[in-house]
Amino acid sequence: MANYYITTPIYYVNDAPHVGHAYCTVNADAMARWHRLLGDDVKFLTGTDEHGQKIADAAIKNGVSPREWTDQTSQRFREAWDALNISYDDFIRTTEPRHFETVQKFLTAVYDNGYIYKDVYQGLYCVSCEDYYTLESSNDGNCPIHGSLLTEMREENWFFKLSAFEAPLLAYYEEHPQFVTPETKRNEALAFIKSGLRDISITRTSISWGVPVPWDDQHVFYVWYDALINYLTGIGFGREDDETSTWWPNSHHLIGKEILRFHCVWWPAMCMAAGLEPVSHVQVHGWLLVGGQKLSKTMAAEGGVKLTDIAPVELTDEFGVDPIRYYLLRETSLGNDGDFSHEGITARYNTDLANSLGNLVARVSTIVASKCAGVGPSPELDSDLRAAAQTAIDDAESAWNRFAPNHALEATWGLIGATNAYLEQRAPWKMEPGEELDAVLGNALEAIRLVTILATPAIPEVAARIWTRIGLAGAPSDEVFASSAQWGRYRATLAIEKGEPLFPRIKASVE
Ligand code: MSP
Repeated sequence: MANYYITTPIYYVNDAPHVGHAYCTVNADAMARWHRLLGDDVKFLTGTDEHGQKIADAAIKNGVSPREWTDQTSQRFREAWDALNISYDDFIRTTEPRHFETVQKFLTAVYDNGYIYKDVYQGLYCVSCEDYYTLESSNDGNCPIHGSLLTEMREENWFFKLSAFEAPLLAYYEEHPQFVTPETKRNEALAFIKSGLRDISITRTSISWGVPVPWDDQHVFYVWYDALINYLTGIGFGREDDETSTWWPNSHHLIGKEILRFHCVWWPAMCMAAGLEPVSHVQVHGWLLVGGQKLSKTMAAEGGVKLTDIAPVELTDEFGVDPIRYYLLRETSLGNDGDFSHEGITARYNTDLANSLGNLVARVSTIVASKCAGVGPSPELDSDLRAAAQTAIDDAESAWNRFAPNHALEATWGLIGATNAYLEQRAPWKMEPGEELDAVLGNALEAIRLVTILATPAIPEVAARIWTRIGLAGAPSDEVFASSAQWGRYRATLAIEKGEPLFPRIKASVE
């Protein structure tokens, strides 16, 4: 058992949450729930990124103050996460006083250590990315991601000596082979470092919507420079409630691939400059695509993809919370891009949830109700299913531990398949009440018990419902995994319920 700190990126509040944000947050949530199941002390942080030009512009466009705009939109993220049953422990807003305090403490340390100096910044900037470009890295003066014309900027700014960290970063990567996963993304970060690092402008005088620079009141920090530090604000860095030493040694950032350079190059260098060990691990995930296109708010505004069609809350209303969570976790392996579609959700729902899991629970509870007076019998110690269960437990455990929820669920559903096949073969529905029938049903119930434990991080609400339905008291997460995930522990303490179908089938084509 350990302390385990996991974070999502903090999302920009220029617009409403969409399913791309939900993808990352649900994956982080499942990891947090997995570690709680292991018995770890978990801190799960998410939140909103509320400074910068992009947000200030969005407020003006909507005719309200930045403060009003960020209050409203940040609240929409909380609502989306509540709808998706996200178990975050803390929600950080970068406009909170605690964040100002940590940012100022952290960057003062960097300044005092001699890594910040004043110079003139002249170059290109994309407000949608909140990122700098050189003419060579742009598309003829246009943003390579958004296609919009880049803004020419010239300002006297404070700079961070990123160039001083080329060698220390390479050494850090060498000593920490698991710092960035998957390996393709680690290689991308390494290639970027090796291509040579230039110092970065980290303050602005042209806008006032930001965290003030403590040693120069004409400046606010550049939005990425305050945003990255949120991960330390969440654990009290530099404040009275400082818990950095508790959480930072086992800290994990889950991020999308487009913000790799900020998290895998700038951020560890910033930490080194402040005299702090970098985050322990960055897990990079790919993009959800709709018809091959990234779900980006900017593109939606340009008429590309209609994002209002794929707001998280609309999806949970249509399919249910756990089916959406399951789909987001199961369909794509973290690191790869994946296609998002209503057809894909429907197919997973019908095949994995209704046919495999739903049917298994329904058929076993029906027979127990009719042939065992409603009380579940105990499993055998040497059942054929035991080996399948052990494989599922081992594979799922190792997959969750390496940030691979889709493989963990694949292994879990392997046990569901094996149990359905076992029932087909033994046909308990044809047996008379007696020892043989009790053994088959007891084994199937034990397999179901183990499945609910393994599936809890993904589908917590349905897993708890199945647990009760098979006569168990409490919830699958009440006991730590090491003791609950052992074959032979099933003992119904309550009567088995038949209940309504867990996943009523939905039609193959959804408009
Ligand atoms: N505010 C910055 C992050 C600062 S972290 C210190 C930001 N915000 S964002 O609102 O643009 O959200 C970015 C994150 O949302 C991505 O890194 C990713 O996790 C998630 N996604 C946004 N669109 C996505 C897809 N189309 N597909 C998958 N994830 C997506 O960048």
